[in-house]
Amino acid sequence: MPASPVRKGTAAPAAEKAAVGQARARRVVKESLEQLRLGPVVATDVLYCEDNLKQLAIMPADGIDLVYLDPPFFSNRFYEVIWGDEAEVRSFEDRWAGGIQVYIEWMRDRLMEVHRVLKPTGSVYLHCDPHASHYLKLMMDDIFGQSNFRNEIIWKRSHGHNSARRFGASHDTILFYSKSAQNTWVPVFHNYDESYLDKHYGHVDADGRRYKHENPTGAGVSHGETGKPWRGIDPTAKGRHWARTPRDLEELDRRGLIYWPKTPGSWPYIKVYLDSMQGVPAQDVWIDIDPINMIARERLGYPTQKPELLLQRIITASSNEGDIVLDPFCGCGTTISVAHQLRRRWIGIDISPTACNLMVRRLAKIGAVDVQVHGMPTTLEELQKLKPFEFQNWVIDRLNGQQANRKTGDMGIDGWTFFLHDPVQIKQSEAVGRNVVDNFETAIERAGKKSGAVVAFSFGRGAHEEAARVRKNGIKIHLLTVTDLLERGDWAMKQLGITGGKPDLTIAPMPQFDASRHSSHELIASDLRGA
Ligand SMILES: C[S@@+](CC[C@H](N)C(=O)[O-])C[C@H]1O[C@@H](n2cnc3c(N)ncnc32)[C@H](O)[C@@H]1O
Repeated sequence: MPASPVRKGTAAPAAEKAAVGQARARRVVKESLEQLRLGPVVATDVLYCEDNLKQLAIMPADGIDLVYLDPPFFSNRFYEVIWGDEAEVRSFEDRWAGGIQVYIEWMRDRLMEVHRVLKPTGSVYLHCDPHASHYLKLMMDDIFGQSNFRNEIIWKRSHGHNSARRFGASHDTILFYSKSAQNTWVPVFHNYDESYLDKHYGHVDADGRRYKHENPTGAGVSHGETGKPWRGIDPTAKGRHWARTPRDLEELDRRGLIYWPKTPGSWPYIKVYLDSMQGVPAQDVWIDIDPINMIARERLGYPTQKPELLLQRIITASSNEGDIVLDPFCGCGTTISVAHQLRRRWIGIDISPTACNLMVRRLAKIGAVDVQVHGMPTTLEELQKLKPFEFQNWVIDRLNGQQANRKTGDMGIDGWTFFLHDPVQIKQSEAVGRNVVDNFETAIERAGKKSGAVVAFSFGRGAHEEAARVRKNGIKIHLLTVTDLLERGDWAMKQLGITGGKPDLTIAPMPQFDASRHSSHELIASDLRGA
């Protein structure tokens, strides 16, 4: 076939030029990433408040033992906005606008980095919901190789509800892959259930130990030691063989572990004690781990919080003490908290400052007080850019306060101070004026309180005059600026009646988040206003 003629100055050289340009651009990006990548030693017990793709891209290769990821689900749009992050809200607007393929490609970029940072013996558990799990599985096969697929774990996460014209959807899927066939594996066993025990371990000895009778023979004849008669009993005559050598059977009998029926000529049994058994090896359907319900002790109110038991099972099965566990979507920190308790080293990444603040407190409660946190907003400019929801949470956290629930939020109270439990109102704006202080006076009175605080970037003269006026009515309104919180935290806390500055996180109450406080419409509206 003759080569197609290439005309001078046509699309072909232009396309070639573009391809060369793209290749050069890719090389430049790759080289700069190589330079940025952290040294071979991975810092652990550290939290990054960052887009995980950026953070993963600068981590060294082959350093992590176990990764658990619980990304925002493709189906869970409400969740997407609830934390109001830049990326999260943008995502609601357009991240998944191209449908499932956009979501899968977004995940692919991240999973490729996860594959790179895992040790050859490492494993990854990807938590998915049934809307996307089948697409994600194909993607994981591409990245990790079909032969490194280990399990599709079904976790029954709810006790069932009615669904119109279909069965109730009550499970999540967790895809488990390893980087190679040499993955770390520590078998997990469960206790036997009572009906199994009643059926099989019905015998109890004088010490109260439960045991079962086990047939000492197996099917088929053997021409070796195990085919020979023992104590006058010939297994070959019955087409069977001893399951242990006659020498081992002698030893068991010496230790009292052979049961001899009273009827002469009857075959013996081996006594197998329940307390010598490991239990039932865990399977890939997990129905014994309850979700975080309204009354769960570990509940923090963070939407999509996962139960500690789920992470305990994953971490014990696929890592050893001292290993490094990474969660790139760590939310309120279930993975890293469990990893810490199980004496693993850990790395957490979450894009939301609210999530990172919550994790610092959660970790403090279990004694992890030397946690490094990188990437949190620390300047006025960064705080000005936060989404309103995140900004509110940042202020409440800074005051060690408590988030208000929906009802008091509607009254103009965004939170409560630590200890005195006085109302707080938060304005992410400059030159807050007289009417804000005036209205807040009413909110304080309705809450039955005598003092409260307004936090803003700055206050106008009218606000100060109004605060002085209401003071004459016996109501004290503190006007605190964001600069006060950034630079004079202890002073600000003293204003609010907390002597000695910031309270110890290990004794301060754990913040409870009220996920229902803002509707998704409110959040989107506030985001659009801010845009
Ligand atoms: C489903 S939640 C994780 C919940 C977590 N397993 C737990 O038990 O709390 C997903 C988390 O991913 C975070 N996230 C979303 N996009 C992210 C990104 N690009 N980089 C880092 N974190 C992200 C969200 O802020 C959210 O906290």
